[in-house]
Amino acid sequence: MNRFLKLIIYLLSLYFLCIFILNVSFQNTTWNWETTNTDNIAYPDDFLWGTATAAHQVEGGHTNNNWFWWESQKDEHGQNRILNNDKSGIAVDQWNRYPEDIKLMKELGTNSYRFSLSWSKIMPQPMVFDTIALQHYSDLIDSLLNNNIEPNITLHHFEEPLWFMEIGGFEKEENINYFLSFSEKVMKTYGKKVTYWTTFNEPNVFINEGYYAGYFPPGKKDARTAGTVLGNILKAHVKTYQMAKQLNYNSDLKIGIVMSIFLFEPSNRINLIDWIGTYLADDAFNKTILRFLETGAYRYLVLPYGQPIKFLDENATKSIDFIGVNYYSHLAVNMNPLNPVESLQPVKGEELAEMGRYTIYPDGIYDAIKMTSKLKVPIYITENGIGDSKDIHRGPFIKRSLFAISEAIKNGYDIRGFYYWSLLDNFEWCLGYSQKFGLYEVNLETQERTLREGSKEFQNTVLRFSNKKIQN
Ligand code: GCO
Repeated sequence: MNRFLKLIIYLLSLYFLCIFILNVSFQNTTWNWETTNTDNIAYPDDFLWGTATAAHQVEGGHTNNNWFWWESQKDEHGQNRILNNDKSGIAVDQWNRYPEDIKLMKELGTNSYRFSLSWSKIMPQPMVFDTIALQHYSDLIDSLLNNNIEPNITLHHFEEPLWFMEIGGFEKEENINYFLSFSEKVMKTYGKKVTYWTTFNEPNVFINEGYYAGYFPPGKKDARTAGTVLGNILKAHVKTYQMAKQLNYNSDLKIGIVMSIFLFEPSNRINLIDWIGTYLADDAFNKTILRFLETGAYRYLVLPYGQPIKFLDENATKSIDFIGVNYYSHLAVNMNPLNPVESLQPVKGEELAEMGRYTIYPDGIYDAIKMTSKLKVPIYITENGIGDSKDIHRGPFIKRSLFAISEAIKNGYDIRGFYYWSLLDNFEWCLGYSQKFGLYEVNLETQERTLREGSKEFQNTVLRFSNKKIQN
């Protein structure tokens, strides 16, 4: 056999050995839902059961922030940025209807509520604080506490004042100080009453959509800018954590950050290029933040090519009391080096979620927990849910997700709470009001809230484990 043939055989053997090792090493945790007894679950008595929303998506009256501006923009093809040209407008009017919504939270049996403060309402101009907005959230917090519902506040949930975006937002490190001033003001105002705080919701989604793919405001498409913004956001997170601990308004204060965890896997498991793409997607979306929080080392790969962005912040390793995990699904990587964004696709052979970008895959919440457990801090599932206008998948999705989380708890993972996304149908960013994530359907004409049938899976589980009867 000539040497060339021997070399080909050697290289092919090496290739398939690599593929074999990769396939054996990276197995998803899944269940056969036809045969698994999803009633066999257990949750601790002190578990936080909640629902989650975000200011811009539910409150109404956002006319001075980055999203209000974005809602009137068109893309390079002249298409509206928001599907159906929807405007957040009055949203589901939670600014005015929160007393009614707190009754719904109690009806579900929940004992916590995750919501975000509107930075643009509280600080409408640089360093100018709006006392009416500050008082509004104080009243909301008091109503929650009076109903034995633990507030869990997010400081930055994709929404920034318009003036902040116009001065460059987190592209400029010096602008971190504006966020710090906002955070300090609200922590001084509410810190004695509120134990759970999150600095940023999904900074990975925020920079990916807003600075890399261009679907969120400010609509930039530059990997280096995306990496710079993420780095400054993480610096802002660390500084906010340190500031809050110095204020020490509440000895029980718990501050975390919330990550969207998407699981990535090769579209073709014998294609090494897809495996490489999977590594890059996972590193950019998940591991960049996890590595920073674990080691203080920030390294953002500028894809598809360019020098990585690097810095070290030793304080990062002591900057979270918990990690918030938002889990929805997994994605397949069909690597296209020339267009990385298009490389991410729904996993073949699984049912597509109504949103159309990913499949229905409750199983993956287990591996998302496993991934974030490496931070060795308590985990809160801060978002998990499904957009389902026909309410045919919601019940099974909830049941299977809560089973997988229960299995993780049984296997020793330190999970302290679960927040369903979402309490109400709401403004789903670029998809406008087309997506129906609410446990309660909202009639946008009348603002009437109606509990969906599928939502009762959540309500029954919460009532079962929070030892509560339905509260009127
Ligand atoms: C996000 C946000 C939520 C979304 C939810 C449904 O994860 O993008 O935190 O605001 O509405 O995840 O997509």
